[in-house]
Amino acid sequence: MAADLETVLSEIAAEMAARSDRGEVATYIPQLAKVDPARFGIAVALNDGRVFVRGDADIPFSIQSVSKVFTLTLALGKVGDTLWKRVGREPSGNPFNSIVQLEHEHGIPRNPFINAGAVVVTDVVLAGHQPREAIAEILRFVQFLAEDDTISIDPQVAASERATGYRNVALANYMRSFGNVVHEPELTLGVYYHHCAIAMSCRQLAAAGRFLAQEGRFAGTGHSVISAERARRITALMLTCGHYDGSGDFAFRVGIPGKSGVGGGILCVVPGQASIAVWSPGLNANGNSKLGSIALEKLARAMNWSIFAARPAQPV
Ligand code: DON
Repeated sequence: MAADLETVLSEIAAEMAARSDRGEVATYIPQLAKVDPARFGIAVALNDGRVFVRGDADIPFSIQSVSKVFTLTLALGKVGDTLWKRVGREPSGNPFNSIVQLEHEHGIPRNPFINAGAVVVTDVVLAGHQPREAIAEILRFVQFLAEDDTISIDPQVAASERATGYRNVALANYMRSFGNVVHEPELTLGVYYHHCAIAMSCRQLAAAGRFLAQEGRFAGTGHSVISAERARRITALMLTCGHYDGSGDFAFRVGIPGKSGVGGGILCVVPGQASIAVWSPGLNANGNSKLGSIALEKLARAMNWSIFAARPAQPV
């Protein structure tokens, strides 16, 4: 018998509000350093349409690398499996902004979720567009998935990241030298910084992730956004690469695919059941939300939500 989701979420929210060990807020993007570490929010969007929220679930935060799930979906829609000539599908075992592997691997990033891979994905989305058109396309896609036109980009976060993005400049220029970034690096990075600066609440992010829990179908109409196979593949990459060199530990503890961002957000998908967004700005040593990861571990365990479970969880 599945636990009662309302009760489980209330207990998790109360416990997270009381914790003092909240991790460290990211400071390398100055604008992110201003966020209150006391925040905690969670939203669960079940496939049957019910939505459950607790805590600061309606406060927008910077989704940062969680946006890479949406740009990957768009890039695959645009160029299909030819994308995999330019980006790998293996966990990196390195921090999200690492440079070291790129030289050994001739400018082909390990996966689409480390920064180098996400910059290539953004370069694909940019093809045939002006940067502002590509930014608008990404934002419109997220608004469509979430059924919420109020979602916007925080220009101050984008500017803050551009002003301090030396590592991303290095990665993009290095890949440009191999021909794996085809636009001027500053144009591709301009789009990248803006999609990372999309601000969403947990409620909006959980809504935007529903298509991945529903075999690629848009929750609003049931129409296909992507094929079921592609949804499975994107979630497979979330599981293996979504938490950088913390991906193994996240799979071990939580057991469902998730993508984190340095803003402290995590989007998780329970295939066939739910899309979950959690936000707490303090990060653990791997740069993933500390309390967010703990909350998801507790939720997954209580609800028996694991892609490794021998039997699917009872419907909630
Ligand atoms: O490029 C960066 O560093 C940020 N825009 C995104 C990094 C990020 O969210 C890594 N996730 N944990």
